[in-house]
Amino acid sequence: MAAISLTVNGKPIRAEVEDRTLLVHFLREHLHLTGTHVGCDTSQCGACVVHVNGRAMKSCTMFVAQADGEEIVTVEGLSGEGKLHPVQAAFQEHHALQCGFCTPGMIMTAVDMLKRHPHPDEETIRRELEGNFCRCTGYLNIIKAIGAASRAI
Ligand code: FES
Ligand code: FES
Repeated sequence: MAAISLTVNGKPIRAEVEDRTLLVHFLREHLHLTGTHVGCDTSQCGACVVHVNGRAMKSCTMFVAQADGEEIVTVEGLSGEGKLHPVQAAFQEHHALQCGFCTPGMIMTAVDMLKRHPHPDEETIRRELEGNFCRCTGYLNIIKAIGAASRAI
């Protein structure tokens, strides 16, 4: 067991965790932040992307003990005061989701992407989304929404 303390969506959290607990399982099962999804067991799909110290990270690829002292933001922490984040609003506006399973990971990846590439061209968006799969194959609208969000931000 390990004693950890971290910040999740701005809230300080302290917990005792098993060494093998993955960050994604801690978020979903201990904190009930179920917006972060698990879509594979091979670290490929990107449904589990959260921000660790501001950078997009697949939360199934790290133990929560490795996040000790770090700042985590999940999709639940993106919007403030009942207002959608511009990337969330653009996904809604451009119908960039079908079943919605990949959406939280896509959005967290897009928010990180737009910090590093404020005005990405389509090729950049496609390259940055390489680690996120949409099983409904809704990529065209996802790319449109990210382009629109970059203009809105
Ligand atoms: S659940 Fe993390 S990459 Fe698929
Ligand atoms: S909207 Fe269904 S997996 Fe992407």
